Amino acid sequence: MDPPVAVRGDGVYVVDGSGKRYLDASGGAAVSCLGHSHQAVIEAIREQAGKLAFAHTGFFTTEPMEALAEFLATRAPGRLDRIYFLSGGSEAVEAAIKMARQYFLEIGQPQRRTVIARRQSYHGNTLGALAAGGNQWRRAQFEPLLTDVVHISPCYAYRDQRDDEDEAAYGRRVADELETAIQQAEPDTVMAFIAEPVVGATAGAVPAVPGYLKRIREICDRHGVLLILDEVMCGMGRTGTLFACEQDGVAPDLVAIAKGLGAGYQPIGALLATDTIFEAFRSGSGFFQHGHTYMGHAIACAAALAVQRTIEAERLLDNVQRMGALLREGLESRFGNHHHVGDIRGRGLFVGLELVADRSTKEPFDPAKRLHAKVKSAAMARGLMCYPMGGTIDGRRGDHVLLAPPFIVDGEHIAAIVETIGDSIDAALAEAA
Ligand SMILES: Cc1ncc(COP(=O)(O)O)c(C=O)c1O
Repeated sequence: MDPPVAVRGDGVYVVDGSGKRYLDASGGAAVSCLGHSHQAVIEAIREQAGKLAFAHTGFFTTEPMEALAEFLATRAPGRLDRIYFLSGGSEAVEAAIKMARQYFLEIGQPQRRTVIARRQSYHGNTLGALAAGGNQWRRAQFEPLLTDVVHISPCYAYRDQRDDEDEAAYGRRVADELETAIQQAEPDTVMAFIAEPVVGATAGAVPAVPGYLKRIREICDRHGVLLILDEVMCGMGRTGTLFACEQDGVAPDLVAIAKGLGAGYQPIGALLATDTIFEAFRSGSGFFQHGHTYMGHAIACAAALAVQRTIEAERLLDNVQRMGALLREGLESRFGNHHHVGDIRGRGLFVGLELVADRSTKEPFDPAKRLHAKVKSAAMARGLMCYPMGGTIDGRRGDHVLLAPPFIVDGEHIAAIVETIGDSIDAALAEAA
């Protein structure tokens, strides 16, 4: 079916050509964190376009790029003080992988070349990012083009935590797979481990258990491996803190952000690197062998700066925490005893529901039913945008629904989301029966 034509935004709603309004409960794909028509952002874009739309970074820096870099550097955890702007998430991940590789050349460890990542992760669709990603469905047809990446288990407690383990023991066991993978590689050849702190599109808002990322950080440090966190989807306030990893108490060496950075008002992503990495380049070759024409685009930076300043000025991350708790409560009461909702999970306004054929055995639905697609259509018919996906378990089996509403939602919006997602899931189940 052809998609409706979106013609206008109105706060948390997208309006199509017929005037039908859609409550954006997923921010598209966890993008539109400020809703769709925020005047402060529109004004900032207008003003910057009137002054200077673009100046190539090979010649100039610009005021909005410097101001946005300063904004991010002063708020990022650890020593992530150096910012490299890009035009989206895949570009940010791609740059992270290349920066990690060149860093080891700069410091005289040219043998380091291997990336370790996790199954069921998503890091983008360009070839480097796709190779790092562990989602079989997305990788399959491009497999011959992908570089070798070692994949370890995700941290997916709902399915993989054993009965004889508590969360801490489970987290240790799966984190220790990284140590084993590093030891199994040729000595000192691993350059980086990459992971999403809360796995988004491919698994449906799966946070790591407490302690997992801390142990990952220790293992990376012990072996001189860089830790890259992909916060393209879960970062920029989505989980209730500006960076998701703040809640895990770790700071990575490199972090990729995008989506919520510009909130969809402009295409923009960024890679944040530590001073240590920056200094290695400065005192080495002096040049990162990378670049794209539109990096640091002046209008994109001005828009993202307006988005981030608005979120901070309006204290919207407090609202993310409050409304996130309300959303979880609403979903628990609507689905807490639902035979086909196996798990409700996430952090802040980043929430996933895993749908199962049988709640007691966790048996998934037959993928041929395409339950996730039916939920999406049922929700759109009812004027609700959500982000369902199949292949939750292994790229083929499993269905989940991801919710990631704008940070400006109120209690009435949350109630409407819970009611409509409930109706949509029930309608989809009836259709699939
Ligand atoms: C965690 C993660 N990394 C990378 C990407 C790729 O970002 P983009 O689609 O902007 O290239 C996505 C997009 O969904 C993502 O969720």
